[in-house]
Amino acid sequence: MSKQAPGKVDMEKIVSLCRRRGFIFPSSEIYGGLSSCWDYGPLGVELKQNIKQAWWRAVVQERDDMIGLDASILMHPQVWAASGHLEEFTDPLVECKTCHLRWRVEDLKDSNCPSCGGELTEPRLFNLMFKTFIGPVEDSASVVYLRPETAQGIFVNFQNVLNTTRKRLPFGIAQIGKAFRNEITTGNFIFRSREFEQMEIEFFVKPGTDQKWFAYWTQERLNWYVNLGIKRESLRLRQHTQKELAHYARECYDIDYLFPMGWSELEGIANRGDFDLVQHASYSGKSLDYFDEETKEHFIPYIIEPSAGVDRSTLAFLCDAYDEEPDKDEIRVLLHLHPSLAPIKVAILPLSRRESLVQAAKQLYADLRQCWMVQYDDAQSIGRRYRRQDEIGTPFCITVDFQSLEDNQATIRERDTMNQIRVPISELKTTLAAKLSGEELFVLPPGGKIWKGESPA
Ligand code: GAP
Repeated sequence: MSKQAPGKVDMEKIVSLCRRRGFIFPSSEIYGGLSSCWDYGPLGVELKQNIKQAWWRAVVQERDDMIGLDASILMHPQVWAASGHLEEFTDPLVECKTCHLRWRVEDLKDSNCPSCGGELTEPRLFNLMFKTFIGPVEDSASVVYLRPETAQGIFVNFQNVLNTTRKRLPFGIAQIGKAFRNEITTGNFIFRSREFEQMEIEFFVKPGTDQKWFAYWTQERLNWYVNLGIKRESLRLRQHTQKELAHYARECYDIDYLFPMGWSELEGIANRGDFDLVQHASYSGKSLDYFDEETKEHFIPYIIEPSAGVDRSTLAFLCDAYDEEPDKDEIRVLLHLHPSLAPIKVAILPLSRRESLVQAAKQLYADLRQCWMVQYDDAQSIGRRYRRQDEIGTPFCITVDFQSLEDNQATIRERDTMNQIRVPISELKTTLAAKLSGEELFVLPPGGKIWKGESPA
């Protein structure tokens, strides 16, 4: 694993927590795993789902200039000729003449094989797309590729969306889906894998307004991470040099996150100009013009593309949320996940396994499950159970005790401060809904009181 950046969590701790608590497992682990492929466990799938939902909500649901799409992974092979991926989506590789391992030229520190010290071949271009065959015959006529980006599914549907939604410029199409790259250098856990998920926006604008929209989306996307709790100082914007620019890009900024191994790309925002629509119009022979009814002009729109990785976002949210606090003789490990991202929103913890308590707690569990992902836990001491929930980022724990049976009240304990309030069970659902949307813990419902901790004056 790469070296830890100063002041940041050790990647090993994140990997170990993810493994131990069921966020992320190595793929096909019982067969020894498959290099750079990962499976999201019961908590991981919730976290990932919540990240995707937060993105979709911000970029589709809450806007009137965006719509969604879900294109297929396998596409006509001409798509990749038109997009430039067949020609350009390559890495120069050298091969060791002794051990036959292949290396990216840009990763090499000297002229010999980093593994065995053997002599290396001259660099050859290696395409990163996974190739497969459609239908029963494995010949060149049936070759298709697993898409290396979701973007192309949007470009080839531009006219379909225009015709069916009557959207006018500027507008965007959003898509979340799997992408595949036969990466040579993988590693750093889920940071770079061969199968991953992207959340991509293709925002179509009138040429000449592209600079304005490029700046707008860069800021908008940066704010999205900050609004979901990532520390601003852990994020930076980095402009691509002319040499780094992808073949389709006029300008590009990366939103970098300070990962354990150092600053690395979390999301890229590119001004793709008219490259993609011009290419697809030319290769397909279909017009991809836009007709502006006001000015009566025909033109090809420019495209601003904010392209984020679901897995990299998951890793960034985990790293940023991870914390350790002294707790008597032990250490309290906790994830300060934003409530909308936390896999489990509420845990129900009966103080004992006494039948009467279990019954009341299970009733509450059944009731709250209608609204949120809720866990029920009655194993071990209450202290240990709190720690288990802290470690997976559950914002609120509800304790049902013997007094609850008499006064119909339960305790809500907040993860970050460990403060507690006591509220009538009849007010629990509305109180939790308010707290999960950001209301301060000590704002009390009718009949509620502070149980532990001090209200800020
Ligand atoms: N359509 C533009 C595009 O695909 P990219 O910079 O190659 O641009 C966009 O990828 C985002 O997809 C990256 O910022 C990253 O979050 C994610 N990504 C790319 N390759 C990845 C990989 N091998 N593993 C995990 N995420 C990856």
